[in-house]
Amino acid sequence: MHRYERLAEELRERIEGGYYRPRDRLPSVRELARAHGVSLSTVQHAYHLLEDAQLIEARPKSGYFVAPQRERPVLPPVGRTAQRPVEVSQWEQVREGTCMLPDSDLRHLGRGMPDIDTPTLKPLMRSLSRVSRRQDLIGLNYDTLHGRPELREQIARLAVGHGCRLHPDELIVTTGCHEAISIAMRAVCEPGGIIAVDSPSFYGALQSIRAYGMKAMEIPTDPQNGISLEALELALEQWPIRAIQLTPTCNNPLGYTLSVERKRALYALAQRFDVAIIEDDVYGDLAYGFPRPVTIKSFDEDGRVLLCSSFSKTLAPGLRLGWMAPGRYLERALHMKYVGTGSTATQGQMAVAEFIREGHFEPHLRRMRAQYQRNRNAMLDLIAEAFPASTRVSYPAGGFLLWLECDTEVDTVALNARLMAEGIRIAPGVMFSATGKYRHCLRLNFATFDDATRDAVARIATRIGELSAPARVNPTPLALP
Ligand SMILES: Cc1ncc(COP(=O)(O)O)c(C=O)c1O
Repeated sequence: MHRYERLAEELRERIEGGYYRPRDRLPSVRELARAHGVSLSTVQHAYHLLEDAQLIEARPKSGYFVAPQRERPVLPPVGRTAQRPVEVSQWEQVREGTCMLPDSDLRHLGRGMPDIDTPTLKPLMRSLSRVSRRQDLIGLNYDTLHGRPELREQIARLAVGHGCRLHPDELIVTTGCHEAISIAMRAVCEPGGIIAVDSPSFYGALQSIRAYGMKAMEIPTDPQNGISLEALELALEQWPIRAIQLTPTCNNPLGYTLSVERKRALYALAQRFDVAIIEDDVYGDLAYGFPRPVTIKSFDEDGRVLLCSSFSKTLAPGLRLGWMAPGRYLERALHMKYVGTGSTATQGQMAVAEFIREGHFEPHLRRMRAQYQRNRNAMLDLIAEAFPASTRVSYPAGGFLLWLECDTEVDTVALNARLMAEGIRIAPGVMFSATGKYRHCLRLNFATFDDATRDAVARIATRIGELSAPARVNPTPLALP
């Protein structure tokens, strides 16, 4: 990391932490250079980075100022306290959302899809085509149960970035993170067993709990601080929970990242009650801050953390390439991998290993993080402008998903059906709960942010305005085309 990047990072943390407020004047280039013992051009470089990220703006002859749109949005409140383990419902909602074919006429703002139309993925396309033309037929052969060694080597190397020392032999390559999570659940829990989950939660994990005849214990989760450790402790005291499954870094759908202290406290709780942790890190590499946050796995001393991730959000979901580090559950996980898919498709693994080895992954991530952070800011501005004033919205620390909470009378399942007729799709909040909670919430994707996205968001705002209590409707919604 260069000096100017480190300085930019420090300033970014101060701005996001509220030390500098929107429209505040920042120190002059000279002051900052003196205070940090760096050159004027280092400070200028750092300020340019922050300008690119739209965190600050330069005013001619006046200096640098925090951008006005940096005001914090009103966050949704923490959900209700956990009551008891439940069977997971909502399959119909999830099925409806995931069975649709890609359709260029539909503005699908509900899915967890990254931007795949980016020049930094071109080398990946080249690797894929090179691999498919290889004459040695490796790409057409069965892979081993663990996955291609060259890919596992690269994954182990990248793991240092989130604080983990992993050996390639500890890893299993999977068909997406989804398979990793479902292997993990079956490796640590029997049918009828209870898994504690953050709530709202990734619906794929919830549906795995349903499919394996397990029960979900939904733990209330704060959009800023993450899963409630107090509620989790209470649940662990009361119920024979086998595992805690959560996405503690750049959470889907709430966007928060659990602090290191809270990650450690959660790990200590898992040790005290002797339960496994299934850590979903699928968005972790898309954290806007640098260096990226460490995983809970990074302080796993006794192998109870099953770390699950994939290249679906960082590269492309169509690769169907994920991986897991199942710790002490490696043998059981290998068995579950074997009975599920035997092995993972080979060619994509070879191509992704080449892409990373040739040094294309980090520049790609840098570009995507900056794009997603810019888009988050633009999306929050648009929402502040166009949505009813009572709307509460998350403030993601990474990734490309926003969680919105509307007035309680807004039924987002009905809203989605209405919007579908207009060629727009959202993810209704009920998908993210075991029992259909969050009916007045929705998730939106901001991976791309073009005119069509703006129009779709403006239309969603109008429809929500129509469904909200009239007195609370913002009188100046965005003009529609
Ligand atoms: C939090 C979370 N975990 C796991 C997955 C599944 O990832 P994959 O597409 O790699 O199976 C997703 C995808 O939407 C997700 O949002």
